Amino acid sequence: MCSRITRPDKSSILKKDTNPQPPKSIHISQIQFQTILNNIPDQAWLKDASGRYLAVNNTYVAACGLSEDKIIGHTAADVWPAEIAAQYMRTDQRVLSSGRQWLFEEQRVRRVGKMATFQTIKAPVRDYDDVIIGTTGISRDVTRYKAIQTQLLKQRERSNKLRIELQSVQDAERTRISRELHDDLSQNLSALRLGLDWLETSLPSDRSVLLDKIQKLREITDSTMQQMRRIALELRPAILIDLGLRVAIQHVMVTTVELGAGALDIQLEFDVDEDAFDQDIKFVFFRVFQEALTNVRRHAAAKTVLVRIYETRKDLFLVVEDDGRGMDLAEAAELRPGLGILGMEERARLLGGQFNLLSKPGEGTHLTLRVPKRRSSSHAK
Ligand SMILES: Nc1ncnc2c1ncn2[C@@H]1O[C@H](COP(=O)(O)OP(=O)(O)O)[C@@H](O)[C@H]1O
Ligand SMILES: [Mg+2]
Repeated sequence: MCSRITRPDKSSILKKDTNPQPPKSIHISQIQFQTILNNIPDQAWLKDASGRYLAVNNTYVAACGLSEDKIIGHTAADVWPAEIAAQYMRTDQRVLSSGRQWLFEEQRVRRVGKMATFQTIKAPVRDYDDVIIGTTGISRDVTRYKAIQTQLLKQRERSNKLRIELQSVQDAERTRISRELHDDLSQNLSALRLGLDWLETSLPSDRSVLLDKIQKLREITDSTMQQMRRIALELRPAILIDLGLRVAIQHVMVTTVELGAGALDIQLEFDVDEDAFDQDIKFVFFRVFQEALTNVRRHAAAKTVLVRIYETRKDLFLVVEDDGRGMDLAEAAELRPGLGILGMEERARLLGGQFNLLSKPGEGTHLTLRVPKRRSSSHAK
């Protein structure tokens, strides 16, 4: 008993082959064919053009809950509940009339158990003359994958929310510490300095050892005050709130050059009205700019940096472009040791904006932050 799989007989694909064709292609016995079919872990079948089953595999038989002889030679209407059968015949018809392969996702109740999702692929079967003589299909139960996919999406959504929350908690905490440093510590240090001044003037001039000591203490107090201001600025740049974005950015540019990037030429184009910024957008622009410039200083070995801040009708833009060594973005994403780039992305997302990084090894780095403008202005945090 043989059936030609590569060039099926005109009337039926699995008809007993009493007069086999010359062996232009290999013949597969029905047993071999059935073995192939049974080796497919999903439900697999072959039907003639009128929808009668010619062959099904074990998984299919198990899914129907009927013996094989109650399936072969019958149609879906004899095998499945009416609603499901109608659905199958509809899709069979679509394959037959279009003459092409179709991929469906179908919901149906399993024979035992609950609703399940199946991914089904159906294709037409043709004879020598390219006439469609039937259909074949494979149906995979993807319920578990679907559940995992849904769960993963939910988890991702939750962790995004958490990240956003963490970011604003961190910002609020930084503001608080910055204020405490600025208001309380700063006052105490000023009092200390005044006290030292008073001591100096109160001591007789022959107590030079003590006077020297006072001078040293005053220097320590001054440098502590400076350090404290720097930390407070990093935590929550008062300069940004008091003097605006342009001045704050210029301040960072100067500090960057002072911090040993002496050969670096930084240019700023600031074409935007400060009033276009809400306080929190200003803050994000400042932070992203600060991180971008720190990255240039630490990683880029660049000669020039161009910083552009501009607006369109709807959006505010920050572009930081360096001519340094650039990076392989895929590699940087995998090896990213810091949270710098992630933090910039996160801040942009928080404001409903977008962060974009373009870079290639040897070709510099181009960073764009776009944030939509807002109508009303929020007060300073
Ligand atoms: N302007 C740049 N030029 C070249 N490489 C950069 C630049 N900015 C970032 N990188 C690369 O991307 C990596 C990730 O940056 P980031 O997330 O800010 O973390 P970190 O600065 O702490 O390493 C850096 O370690 C560096 O390899
Ligand atoms: Mg960094």
